[in-house]
Amino acid sequence: MGEENLRIPQHVAIILDGNGRWAKAKGLPRHMGHVEGCKTVERTVEDAARLGIRYLTVYGFSTENWKRSEEEVSGLMDLFRYYMVRLLKIAKAQNVRVKSIGDRTRFAKDIIEGINRLEEETKDNTGLTFIIAVNYGSRDEMIRGMKRMLQDAQSGALAAEDLNEERFASYLDTAGIPDPDLLIRTSGEMRLSNYLLWQMAYTEFYFTDIYWPDFNREELVKAIEKYNKRERRFGGVTCS
Ligand code: IPE
Ligand code: IPE
Ligand code: MG
Repeated sequence: MGEENLRIPQHVAIILDGNGRWAKAKGLPRHMGHVEGCKTVERTVEDAARLGIRYLTVYGFSTENWKRSEEEVSGLMDLFRYYMVRLLKIAKAQNVRVKSIGDRTRFAKDIIEGINRLEEETKDNTGLTFIIAVNYGSRDEMIRGMKRMLQDAQSGALAAEDLNEERFASYLDTAGIPDPDLLIRTSGEMRLSNYLLWQMAYTEFYFTDIYWPDFNREELVKAIEKYNKRERRFGGVTCS
């Protein structure tokens, strides 16, 4: 299939995985895997925008990742600080709108401010929407949403009979973002690791053994080609 004939999914979600194993295989410290992984994220944002993908959601740090060593977590936070500044420049230059999902309140003040700034200063951009999932966990997202739902129920803004799937989704961090069409997970792991559980009810899954730092445009196109060969079905009905 020629690349020009590809049907491009509107929303691609990625679980980047294998940074640590990539580094280990090369005899490098884990941190170097994360450094390379960040470069891959930057390239992937550009590739996705050029391919015409409208939404790209990347899992950068999960609610469970705090359990890693203090050294690794603080290394990741510093990388995050560094790449936030670069991302702002890239987003402005390439008309990318940046959004973040996850509970940002747990981060250091400067990181929270950085995330807010990224969102605020790119909110009117009309190209790719790049969504970074940080301190994100699907269960945590649903619980936070449900707490707000209960508050709205108490204040009278929400009645039980008004609750439906659409309304529920509006309480999630992803409110207003269409569900992912395609999920890519690298490094050979085949699980969701608490990622977008509600949103991926009908998403097509693509797994590759490649470690995240080695992921590139060719791999992205391969995933989209595989997606193109599938017949998407919702409840037994084939969709175009
Ligand atoms: C993904 O790579 C990056 C994050 C989860 C932050 P890993 O750090 O999980 O790498 P592996 O799975 O140990 O190889
Ligand atoms: C998932 O990767 C989380 C992110 C990519 C941020 P992990 O490597 O943390 O997931 P598990 O522990 O293998 O499920
Ligand atoms: Mg991992």
